[in-house]
Amino acid sequence: MSKKVSPSILSADFANLEKEVKAVAAAGADWIHVDVMDGHFVPNLTIGVPVVASLKKVSPLPLDVHLMIEEPEKYVEAFIKAGSDYLTIHVESTRDPAAVLKRIRELGAKPGITLRPRTPVEDVLPLLPLCDLVLVMTVEPGFGGQSFMHDQIAKISKLRSEISSKKLKCLIEVDGGINAETAKLCHEADVFVAGSFVFGRNYAEAISILKK
Ligand code: DX5
Ligand code: ZN
Repeated sequence: MSKKVSPSILSADFANLEKEVKAVAAAGADWIHVDVMDGHFVPNLTIGVPVVASLKKVSPLPLDVHLMIEEPEKYVEAFIKAGSDYLTIHVESTRDPAAVLKRIRELGAKPGITLRPRTPVEDVLPLLPLCDLVLVMTVEPGFGGQSFMHDQIAKISKLRSEISSKKLKCLIEVDGGINAETAKLCHEADVFVAGSFVFGRNYAEAISILKK
C-alpha cells in the first residue's frame, strides 16, 4: 500500500487556510492534519472547533484531527459535529480512553489513539481494536519544527507486529520531525504527518518524496 501524507496545517499560513488546504490537496496530499492544543495538556494554544468547521467547508480531503487537550470527552462531540473524519486522542489525557474511543465511533467519526514519547507503547496496545488509527509521536507534542526522536521508531515495529498478529485494521501514523530522511526510518508506518517539511518547500515535491 502506498503511503498517505497528512500535511499539518500548524505550519501553514493561518491567514490563508482555504488556499493552503486546496494547494496541498492539489499537490497530492491524502488528509489534512489539524493540531488542536489547549495550553494545558501541551504548553501551546492553537485552534478549536470553529476553525475545524470552517476547514470542513473548503477541504476536499478528510480532516485528521489530533486533540492535544485535557478531558477530550468534553469536546469530541463538538469536533465531530464540526466535521472531523479521524479524531485522535492522547491516552494520557483522560481516565477512560476506551470509553472516549467508543463514543467517537458512535458519533460517526474514526477513532485514533496516540501517546507522548515518554509513554510506553504497551499503554495503547489494548485500545487498538477500538481504533482506526494509532499515532506515534516522534517529538514532544506542542510545536512544529522540532527534531525527530529516533528512540520512538521501535514503537512503530511493535505496533506493526501487534496489528498483523491480531489481524487489526488500524493504520499507523507518525507525527513529528518527518522529512525525506526520517520518513525512510518509519517505513512500517502507513501515514506521514508533516508540517514544516511540506509547508517549507514546493508542496508537490515534498509530498511525492514522502510517498516514496
Ligand atoms: C506537534 C504536532 C505536529 C506538528 C508537526 O505537536 O502534533 O503535528 O505540526 O510538525 P513538524 O512536521 O514540523 O514536526
Ligand atoms: Zn499532530
